[in-house]
This record gives sequence, structure tokens and C-alpha cells, in this order.
Amino acid sequence: MNCSQEWPEPIIRVQSLSESGLNKIPDRYVKPPTERPVSAGEEEGKVDIPLIDLGGLFSADPATVQMTVGRVGEACREWGFFQAVNHGVRPDLMDRAREVWREFFHLPMEVKQGYANSPRTYEGYGSRLGVEKGAILDWSDYYFLHYLPPNLKDCDKWPAQPPHHREVIEEYLGELVKLSGRLMKVLSINLGLDEDYLQNAFGGEDIGACLRTNFYPKCPQPDLTLGLSSHSDPGGMTILLPDHDVPGLQVRRDGKWITVRPAPHAFVVNIGDQIQVLSNAIYKSIEHRVIVNPNLERVSLAFFYNPRGDILIEPAKDLITPENPPLYLPMTFNEYRLFIRLKGPRGKSQVESLKCPK
Ligand code: OGA
Ligand code: NI
Repeated sequence: MNCSQEWPEPIIRVQSLSESGLNKIPDRYVKPPTERPVSAGEEEGKVDIPLIDLGGLFSADPATVQMTVGRVGEACREWGFFQAVNHGVRPDLMDRAREVWREFFHLPMEVKQGYANSPRTYEGYGSRLGVEKGAILDWSDYYFLHYLPPNLKDCDKWPAQPPHHREVIEEYLGELVKLSGRLMKVLSINLGLDEDYLQNAFGGEDIGACLRTNFYPKCPQPDLTLGLSSHSDPGGMTILLPDHDVPGLQVRRDGKWITVRPAPHAFVVNIGDQIQVLSNAIYKSIEHRVIVNPNLERVSLAFFYNPRGDILIEPAKDLITPENPPLYLPMTFNEYRLFIRLKGPRGKSQVESLKCPK
């Protein structure tokens, strides 16, 4: 399977549509009734995802460390999602990273067009996921870039403006790689595996890391569309920096959608499909989506920590017993991610398709 070189139809920037002041959204963005933010007979979930103080991981008291590891593990088993505070990344760096991206999206369109992406690598400025002609599209633009492995990092594909953008993003991504490494240990320990198990299964030093900054412009008819359709993240683990004061992310739980209310300077951490596979579904990669807003734009930075592309990912042997047979067939991440790149976000259909035949 190969990704085509070009988009199947001309790209329209959602931000341009939004700024043109239209009061009805084009049909291309109107979702079928069952996928709209509030479908008939569906109520919104009232609870919130767990909030975890990761400061406990650095405690001198082993009981506090153990309790924190337990809370992270429980959140990943029960929810697949949690908010993390005291995670070790400086608040001013988080704010700055979001701000330089917001400034980028407010540059003149000619400048941004210089970074227009193609479905071959997705790197750069984009406005759709998937290459199916005539597909219903999401109400968002984005910017995708590679950070690791170093041979995939191409600074010419990173925005040169606003000033300091590259330095800020470089520092921010460096911090997130460190945080991810710590969380991988926590997740491994909580599964009862060697603390380096998941990191090694991801390829040790050769892991992949990339950033997708989402820009959700104001939308005149937010009830008819979505900023990002329901999906689970295909990679290993995602660390999301949400907009501090504009909610939008919703997580699916017991058939209801729960709107995440971001805590100050918290990250939203979630399990991706590759860790669901490695943990043989002990940790869950949960469906989520984004709703849009009539009065406010929203910027979010999704950092993806992924396995190296060419190694086989399969359930950890130590988690397999006669009562717990492997649930998934082995597959490389390069092969796996082609699915979302071709078809766009489609709930959890992909990880389901990896299930072992019964
Ligand atoms: C994503 C994602 C959520 C958000 O980029 O995969 O789920 O709040 N983003 O933008
Ligand atoms: Ni996601």
C-alpha cells in the first residue's frame, strides 16, 4: 500500500472559509446526523478524566512513587486518558509553544501556503486527513512535523516564522521526549514488566516523535460539524497541550462523550493503538474527537511518541498466558499508520481490524 503523491481535489483552508464571514458551512463539512456533536437521544457525560499529580514520581518516599505509578496505570486501564500536572515541563515554555503556533496560523496565507503539505509524508501545513475524493471533511487546519528519528527531521519543513518559532518548538519537543521516556517506564512497571520494556519494544533510542498542531477556526454552525472526527491515535502515546481556555476535546466513555476541562498547565496524556497492542489491551486507546466553537478559535499541540516504523509491534510475551492469549497480530507502525493517512479518522475500526481471528 502506498500513499498517493497529491490530494484528490484542491485544498481549501478552513481558516479562510471561517474568515470569509460565511454564516452557513459548505456541505463538505456537514456530518451525518449520528456523528454530529449532539445527536438525538445522546446526553453528555458529566464526569471528567482523571487528574494526576506526576510530582509524586520524583518523591523520596517509595510509597508515594508507587501510588503515583498505580494512579497512572489505573487511568490507562480504565480510561486510556488522564490529565497530568507537575509533569516537569515549565509552564512558560508550554504557553510560549502554543503562542508561537497561534502566531504562525495568523501569518498571511501566502506565507503558510509555502509550507503546504502532501499526503505522501503529511509534513507541513494541511487541511485534511485521508485522500478519498468527496469525503466529508473536518473543520480544522493543522501543521505536522517530524522531530525524531533525527534523519526524518527536516528543519526546512518547520516554519521559519514567527521569529524564534524553531527554537521554542525544538526546546518544547526535547522536554516532551524526556517526559515520554519517564511515562514509558511508569507504564512498563505498572504492567509488571521490566521498566525499559516498552521503550525497547518501541526501538530503544530509535523511537519516532512528531508534532501535529491543530488550528480550529471559529465555526458559524458548530452543531453540524466536528473539528476532528472520532478516532483513536494510531501511535504509541500522545501528549496533548490543549488550548488553556477553549474546551473542545471530547473522550468517549460508556457510549457518552465527555468534554475535557483543561486544568491550568496540565497535559492531556492518552494511550495510542500501539500501546494497546503491546499491552494486549490492558491499556486502552480510547476514541476521542473535537467539537468547534462559534466565537472562539482553538489551538492544540498533539505530540505523538511512536515506535520506530519498521519493527513489528505485538503483545508482550510476558503478558500472554493460556487465559490471556494474544489479541492482536503483529504489524509494523509504518504499515499501520497508512490506514489513517489514506482513509482519515474512523473511530477504532483500525485496531479492531488487527484482532486475531478467533
Ligand atoms: C489529535 C487530537 C485533540 C485536540 O490531534 O489526534 O486528538 O484537542 N487532538 O486537538
Ligand atoms: Ni487524537
